[in-house]
Amino acid sequence: MAGRREKYGQSIRGSRIAGAIAIGVLLGCVFAFLYPNGFFSPDPRSQSRPVSKSNLQVDSPNCESTEGVNMMKSENRKLSEKNAELQKQVRELNQKLQAAQQGNGRTQEQLVVSSQPQKAGPFGTVKSLRTNPPVMPDESVNPRLAKLLAEIAVGKEVIVALANSNVKSMLEVWFNSIKKVGIPNYLVVALDDTIVEFCKENDVPVYKRDPDENVDFIGKSGGNHAVSGLKFRILREFLQLGYGVLLSDVDIVYLQNPFDHLYRDSDVESMSDGHNNMTAYGYNDVFDEPSMGWARYAHTMRIWVYNSGFFYIRPTIPSIELLDRVADRLTTQPNSWDQAVFNEELAFPSHPGYVGLYASRRTMDIYLFMNSKVLFKTVRKDANLKKLKPVIVHVNYHPDKFPRMKAVVEYYVNGKQDALDAFPDGSE
Ligand SMILES: *[C@@H]1O[C@H](CO)[C@@H](O)[C@H](O)[C@H]1NC(C)=O
Repeated sequence: MAGRREKYGQSIRGSRIAGAIAIGVLLGCVFAFLYPNGFFSPDPRSQSRPVSKSNLQVDSPNCESTEGVNMMKSENRKLSEKNAELQKQVRELNQKLQAAQQGNGRTQEQLVVSSQPQKAGPFGTVKSLRTNPPVMPDESVNPRLAKLLAEIAVGKEVIVALANSNVKSMLEVWFNSIKKVGIPNYLVVALDDTIVEFCKENDVPVYKRDPDENVDFIGKSGGNHAVSGLKFRILREFLQLGYGVLLSDVDIVYLQNPFDHLYRDSDVESMSDGHNNMTAYGYNDVFDEPSMGWARYAHTMRIWVYNSGFFYIRPTIPSIELLDRVADRLTTQPNSWDQAVFNEELAFPSHPGYVGLYASRRTMDIYLFMNSKVLFKTVRKDANLKKLKPVIVHVNYHPDKFPRMKAVVEYYVNGKQDALDAFPDGSE
């Protein structure tokens, strides 16, 4: 509906613009007739006029005083011809737009116009919309969680981690590092009663969902991947309540407050599995097929995946659509891996038979939001990089998570210079 209304508005605007141009040019002719030498310039012939290539602009007529009224009449005729042509073009454009909108119901949904049309600024100054507006908070979705978040969140933002008893020891390192930094706005979503008790004993903000059979079954018995799928469903409520969530796995050590290092310009801002600038931020990967001879090189775009265990997600419609898409695919394709699904939904563009997700994304700085491959393969061996203090370290690349987490604390918090040395780069 909005699309239709907009289109009608455009057609009216189109003819108004044409009318305005016609009147303007007419006035120009009258003034040129009355003031053949112009108001200021002594010699109008020395002025060159730019040639307009745009269909929407009408060439200014040269009105010479000597030819007078005849000239004006002829210009007038030309003008109304141009005007008619212009109106025809606007009509055709509208017809094309209408055809495009009706061609596909999905397209029409997406064509909702968010604001008044605006003129593009000068070269190099235009910026597209990437920061989507937040949703209207809906407390009725979960009043109990709404009340809890109102107490905990800072600036409508909160760190959220899901945990069951399997990860209890890592959870302890996780919340102790958060406490040490002094971050107040964090919450553990407990998947079993042991974790509820453990958090209460340690004065850690904890939330347990109301009983929900499917969810509780996965939560209690599930391995890493099953729990990962669950989190997309749980996260939805946080977003619906209007909160920006920094979703965090528990194999993460906090060294600074991450909320001081977010850009908040994108729907999803995520840490990367990449291990250097190229792999983390994207590069042109040339595929070589020698049998093609002259055209042997095909260029491809590559980027290492986002880590779905640590990302900041703003409460916007595209963000919620992302969570829904991922949760839906994890249900209908039980063998899929949530991180792969998360990345595919974020990355693949629309194509025949598929409408892509129109979410904006940002890759976090790999030295501030550091994965354990960057730390153990590069940073600890580099005299300059090892002096920098990351915001977090995520022990995602190594199975011996617990000892490596403790080593990270020893190195960065307690200043033990050799704390990282005993570990191999990868697992052995
Ligand atoms: C990686 O990117 C950062 C930020 O753009 C830059 O400061 C740094 O020099 C780059 N490092 C390398 C090795 O290119």
